Amino acid sequence: MLIGVPRETKPRETRVAATPATVRQLIGLGYDVVVEDGAGELAGFSDEAFVDAGADVASSAKVLMADVILRVNGPTVDEIPLLADGTTLIALMAPAQNPDLVEALAARPLTALAMDAVPRISRAQSLDVLSSMANIAGYRAVIEAAHEFGRFFTGQVTAAGKVPPAKVLVAGVGVAGLAAIGAASSLGAIVRATDPRPEVADQVKSLGGEYLAVDVEVEHSGTGYASSTSQDYDRRAAEIYSEQARDVDIIITTALIPGRPAPKLVTAADIAEMKAGSVVIDMATAQGGNVEGSVRDQKIVTSNGVTIIGYTDLPGRLPTQASQMYGTNLVNLMKLLTPKKDGTLVLDLDDVVQRSMTVVKDGERLWPPPPVQVSASPVTRPQTVAPGQGKRKRDKRSSARRRFGLVGVGLALFLVLVATAPEPIPQHFTVLTLATVVGFYVIGNVHHALHTPLMSVTNAISGIIVVGSFLQLAIDDPTIRALAFAATLLASINIFGGFAVTRRMLRMFQRESVKG
Ligand code: NAI
Repeated sequence: MLIGVPRETKPRETRVAATPATVRQLIGLGYDVVVEDGAGELAGFSDEAFVDAGADVASSAKVLMADVILRVNGPTVDEIPLLADGTTLIALMAPAQNPDLVEALAARPLTALAMDAVPRISRAQSLDVLSSMANIAGYRAVIEAAHEFGRFFTGQVTAAGKVPPAKVLVAGVGVAGLAAIGAASSLGAIVRATDPRPEVADQVKSLGGEYLAVDVEVEHSGTGYASSTSQDYDRRAAEIYSEQARDVDIIITTALIPGRPAPKLVTAADIAEMKAGSVVIDMATAQGGNVEGSVRDQKIVTSNGVTIIGYTDLPGRLPTQASQMYGTNLVNLMKLLTPKKDGTLVLDLDDVVQRSMTVVKDGERLWPPPPVQVSASPVTRPQTVAPGQGKRKRDKRSSARRRFGLVGVGLALFLVLVATAPEPIPQHFTVLTLATVVGFYVIGNVHHALHTPLMSVTNAISGIIVVGSFLQLAIDDPTIRALAFAATLLASINIFGGFAVTRRMLRMFQRESVKG
């Protein structure tokens, strides 16, 4: 089958749906590829580079005759008649927001797959363009802010004076928010972030930011995202935004609840409190904006000298990277659609990922798709004030008392045992107790991100156990031998199992060619 990659027609679009690297991968799947002349120009990919990668370069008319058309943006209604019968079109289409486009596509005998309708489930992560583009956009938001901001992000003490670090607030810790936190903190800024989902606190911390908790419960949609915030939450969050607006230099807002207009977080009064020279980037202007006064695709400067940016083309401002990531998402989709790697596209509507993104199949309208069940739903935080809460607190107190009682009894028995046991058992118990306490505090304070290296260290400890238990095997006592044998066996399982798991994890970070 022939894959066609036309030049994008949307005004100001800089991205292209394939790069020389992804063309090679598509050819590896058995397809022929034709790219429209000049399609990659704005993203930094020349026609020659596409030809070197194995594609043909041709005019728009020839590209549109291909069996499969890969685009970044969906066609306009006027462009649909240009597509050949039987074509499979794959692009961003926002079908939920564009019913006219869906109707026009369904009026033609073709198939249309929306890249922005890929469900956000782990199996579909490699095709998730909304995530890959939001990641780039979050990074670029920081670069835009740094460009407008008249100072360093990092604090410096120089012969020419002392510079305080910039303070950045990120609202909404989804994909874009996390990318913004990572970029801003790696530039040296002090970063704070807030989100109704308390489970993101660890992620904020691991990227060098501080999580600002709004201690009021939120509902969860069951999809891993906040579904709505209560009035109490919004009131407390508004206080936090007002406090922060007076203190920070940069605010980046990325808050979104799927299927709803963007929540308004930063008010005009907050902006009026910000210092002159501060920058606000509202990433959600396409959904109505998180910031009062932000304008879609515009940069405005308020009377108190605050720059508010509402660009909606942030990924396109990093066109080479964005095209590469978008192209890779498409290659991953084509791998799914080409099970035999023989250049033949097979659409399997029993597969939830393929079904979710199929807007039209051979002229039959299949939008909207059935809802996708997401298994992992985040833990809901206990309410601050709720009916029946007093009883739960009492239950908790009594179970804590019971636990302390049991620990007390255990300790007393242990002391009696140690006091009456013959030497050298008390000495061994003392060492064991001290080792347990020290180990508990040392390991308990190891950051989650370091648990893999920690596992390797525990492997080393198991090595010591194996040596010790081997020595005990020489003792002519069946009980000691049995214990020594069990210790050798268990420690060996830990060593070999640990190495197997570590190897598997390391392979996840290796390139295909290195894996062999
Ligand atoms: P996401 O769905 O991964 O993250 C949104 C986050 O906002 C979630 O963590 C959610 O819990 C949080 N949130 C919901 N209500 C909130 C509230 N009241 N206060 C604070 N946080 C709240 O979305 P993603 O992919 O990170 O995208 C974020 C935004 O960026 C979207 O509006 C998206 O359209 C936009 N975007 C903008 C681009 C641009 O060029 N301007 C490019 C790509 C994405």
